[in-house]
Amino acid sequence: MRTANSSALLLPVFLALSMSGAPAAELPPAERLQERMGTPAATVTVYEPHLSLAGRRVAIEYVGYPAVDVMARLFGKDWHLQATTVELRALDGYVARIDVSRFMKDTAVLAFARKDGAPFTIDNPRQNQTDVPLAPWYLVWDNISNPALLEEGASNWPYQVHEVNLVSLSDRALLPDGLPDDLHEGAELARTYCLQCHAVNGFGGEKHPANLAEIAKAYPEPDFTRWVLEPSSVRAGTSMPPLYRHIPDDERQRIAKTLFDYLRAVPVLR
Ligand code: HEC
Repeated sequence: MRTANSSALLLPVFLALSMSGAPAAELPPAERLQERMGTPAATVTVYEPHLSLAGRRVAIEYVGYPAVDVMARLFGKDWHLQATTVELRALDGYVARIDVSRFMKDTAVLAFARKDGAPFTIDNPRQNQTDVPLAPWYLVWDNISNPALLEEGASNWPYQVHEVNLVSLSDRALLPDGLPDDLHEGAELARTYCLQCHAVNGFGGEKHPANLAEIAKAYPEPDFTRWVLEPSSVRAGTSMPPLYRHIPDDERQRIAKTLFDYLRAVPVLR
């Protein structure tokens, strides 16, 4: 498990081929990246999805570099042809996996500070956390130019990002051979809503170090649904966020059930 210390900041910039041969890079600290970029940092104003809850919109101005420029600098100009997915790993074990095509379509910025000089931290009410450090890097999206992004919540906004990898994902861990087709939607939903923090058969984040395929099987369905929809009603102060509340309630119920059916059926691979 990753811990929230910042030793990664002390590592020199490295560009390496990981064991799978996929390009991987430890992100350098802001000052060092600034030297390598050769361009001044840019500012971007966004509706902060961690704070813009229940229809309220909170605009914050961040300072950073366009993500596509950072990737071109780290991996070469043809970075977007090297893989299908950008994987961003955070110090707290969170892993965001975002299609390369999204970076080509919408504007993302790797931020290292707030423009107004306020501390580079955020409150995350969905996770019952305040003053969470965002450093070293925080991926933010221009959701003012593209309001459709607002609907998605914060799953593609990883903070404490220290590592970027270009990967082409294999579905095998999530969809082992023989899994009935009608469970595939559950795997997709897990990828959208759960696998930033949890893993299924080793595929996913490392924030909660258990195999979701295994632990979910111990839950009766009503307990599972209650946990996924309202974790704080089961364990007060938990840092597991509820399934997005802006999704209509019957759809939230359906998602929880689809996830449950999938997680109960998917074999536990060791
Ligand atoms: C932002 C990170 C995050 C996301 C996203 C997330 N979880 Fe969690 N989850 C956690 C954390 C942290 C815990 C431990 C909570 C605690 O102990 O208070 C947890 C605990 C759990 C547990 C209970 C494990 C146990 O102790 O028995 C289950 C089941 C679970 N999550 C399922 C899910 C499902 C299903 C989804 C997707 C709908 C999901 N989680 C999305 C962070 C997350």
